[in-house]
Amino acid sequence: MTEILPADADSIRQAVEILRRGGLVAFPTETVYGLGADAQNDAAVRAMFAAKGRPADHPVIVHLAAGAAMEKYAVEISPAARQLAAAFWPGPLTLVVRHGPQISNLVTGGLDTVGLRVPSHPVAQALLREFGGLIAAPSANRFGRVSCTTAEHVSQELGERVDLILDGGECAVGLESTIIDVSGPQPAILRPGAVTAEQVSAVLGCEVAQSSCGRPRVSGGLPSHYAPRALVEIVRPDQLAPRAQQLASDGKKVAVLCSELFSFEHPSITVLPVPANISEMAHELYALLRHVDDLGCDVALVTVPPEDGLGAAIADRLRRAAGPRQADG
Ligand code: TXA
Ligand code: MG
Repeated sequence: MTEILPADADSIRQAVEILRRGGLVAFPTETVYGLGADAQNDAAVRAMFAAKGRPADHPVIVHLAAGAAMEKYAVEISPAARQLAAAFWPGPLTLVVRHGPQISNLVTGGLDTVGLRVPSHPVAQALLREFGGLIAAPSANRFGRVSCTTAEHVSQELGERVDLILDGGECAVGLESTIIDVSGPQPAILRPGAVTAEQVSAVLGCEVAQSSCGRPRVSGGLPSHYAPRALVEIVRPDQLAPRAQQLASDGKKVAVLCSELFSFEHPSITVLPVPANISEMAHELYALLRHVDDLGCDVALVTVPPEDGLGAAIADRLRRAAGPRQADG
């Protein structure tokens, strides 16, 4: 299996060498683990798409060590882009901007825009600074599957498809970055995340639209994304118990994810406690969904938290996990 190394000065140096020779490195960020490749090496970017099993026309996020580099790679930068970069970088925010000639068509899927992000995680920061260039990094999971929040999960997902996994422990946020399109006249949130709509509106001084996530270019916008193997079903809290009983009596193995105390006598129903605190819920969500698969459950029953702040991001990922599955899901 690919080596998992604790992230320290030595392993980060090794990771930089791998990136320089066109290899792939999984690394922690504050949101989820990324599968990194040299964004300016087309062969490396192709290898990254292959490792993920992701269609080549899907754009990936390009990571920078510092926000100042946006000036070098983006063109026609809007005041909103500058304001949001100043307010939230480094941090869990991706800005979709118009790009200049140094950004390869391979990372943008041929679009005239690119998603840029400056992560705050110290390991991601150290890697980017030492590498000195741009790191293209989608989430370090197979296409359509749940993102990884630990090095162990990356290893389970990608096996030997990655050259090195830097272990930086559990990701603090646990959900992918907020994506905001600031390339047009009206900023739009393409994917909710830990930088919340409320925070974005406060910085820009206006309400920011949550774009309908059907845009095919945003792979997270496909309904089949962020899904475990088990079917995910969203129910109202009062439906958890009766629905679990019904599925169990139909012969299904059921996981009930809930923050209230519940107990079931039925041997094929497992209750997985979800933290009531919304940040902890985000932090735990993907590990819980993986656990559902580890238990071999057929169905996971979930409820959606109130959709303000970080709750909007959790609700978004649960809806996608519960969405119709596609062949590549
Ligand atoms: O938190 C994160 O954003 C993680 C960490 C590793 O940084 N990365 C991540 O990457 O979630 P990925 O590739 O799994 O999701 C990036 C999303 C995709 O849905 C992609 O379609 C969208 O960003 N995206 C990238 N560039 C875009 C662009 N120019 N226009 C619209 N969407 C874009
Ligand atoms: Mg992803």
